[in-house]
Amino acid sequence: MVSIVCFIAILLPFTVFCTASASTITYNVVNFGAKADGITDSTKSFLSAWSSACASTQPATIYVPPGRYLLGSAQFWGQHCKNSAITMRIAGTLVAPSDYSVIGKNGNWLAFESVDGLSIYGGILDGRGTGLWACKASGKSCPTGATTLAFYNSRNIVVSGLTSLNSQMFHMVVYGCTNAKLQGLKILASASSPNTDGIHLQLSSGVSILNSRIATGDDCVSIGPGNSNLWIENVACGPGHGISIGSLGWDMQEPGVQNVTVKSVTFKGTQNGVRIKTWARASSAYVKGILFQHLVMVNVQNPVIIDQNYCPNSGNCPTQVSGVKISDVTYQNIHGTSATQVAVKFDCSKQYPCSRIKLEDVNLTYKTQPAVASCLNAGGTTSGLVAPTGCL
Ligand SMILES: *[C@@H]1O[C@H](CO)[C@@H](O)[C@H](O)[C@H]1NC(C)=O
Ligand SMILES: *[C@@H]1O[C@H](CO)[C@@H](O)[C@H](O)[C@H]1NC(C)=O
Repeated sequence: MVSIVCFIAILLPFTVFCTASASTITYNVVNFGAKADGITDSTKSFLSAWSSACASTQPATIYVPPGRYLLGSAQFWGQHCKNSAITMRIAGTLVAPSDYSVIGKNGNWLAFESVDGLSIYGGILDGRGTGLWACKASGKSCPTGATTLAFYNSRNIVVSGLTSLNSQMFHMVVYGCTNAKLQGLKILASASSPNTDGIHLQLSSGVSILNSRIATGDDCVSIGPGNSNLWIENVACGPGHGISIGSLGWDMQEPGVQNVTVKSVTFKGTQNGVRIKTWARASSAYVKGILFQHLVMVNVQNPVIIDQNYCPNSGNCPTQVSGVKISDVTYQNIHGTSATQVAVKFDCSKQYPCSRIKLEDVNLTYKTQPAVASCLNAGGTTSGLVAPTGCL
């Protein structure tokens, strides 16, 4: 619906400003009591603005003016919304409480649950995670920490032009969602910060991540169980642990991952480039229909890796055989430098060897020595120039 919205300027008689747009009601959080001073808790004001937008039958915009707004944990529920066109336009910065335990005990800082039709434009989210990271590094007992921005069981989500700084744990989580477009994001945390994954996806379908920069202490993007139809394009990743499918196969009954495209991504100084990782134990899970295309690796420790004996920090990991079936994985046009001699590593399940792996125009180099490829239980084909020469 397009209508004409007119504003009659009081100070300039007879002047009328008109804009053609879908008629939208705007809810400014300041009118609900939010204070842009960075010290007054504005959580309730944001929740009230949300309730009003959600109760409106017209498209609604929640506007956050410039300034700093202190927010504790906030859950925005969509179940009873009359509205499926809510926009949050954030010109300011949302800051977490200085005491990390306030949100750190809650699992999430800002969470949207069962929302249909939400677009978030702009904004800086400052999770102030450094205190919690220091607590964890000291070996003291600390709260687990909060995800900065989470979407659960939601549909038709857009997040555009948002910056997330120093999350306590994951910066963003998309869980049980359909159709989400995340674009123009900046996600930043120090390289040594624990579990500060950029974007974690789980049980979701139709998610795209575009034109973004992700630099954190863990995976830039982690793709957990039950994801399909994902598109990741034009992302700068690093520092961090790369883009990972997994960890998968912890549960005996676990949904698989299929139809994932990762293209035009640059990895700089990361632990991994594109990784598929599964636990070494029985599971019904699978990975299939994956395309890794047009990737640049700059000094990456494991540029191309499938690890079906995943064991982080050589901890107490299962040592059985992975039940996760991996097939139809294509690596196309991947260039650059490996920080270790093994530039391509496929360590697949003895019981379910990786099948239909394709390497095409892959050229990875290691300092002045030749890079090497290592394969265990992996089958497939190579075409075009492939260096190190394939071991499939
Ligand atoms: C794979 O996912 C893309 C979106 O990323 C979608 O456009 C395409 O239709 C999907 N393909 C199949 C076969 O479902
Ligand atoms: C692979 O890339 C390196 C570095 O860019 C280049 O020197 C080498 O010629 C390439 N290999 C082939 C066979 O094209």
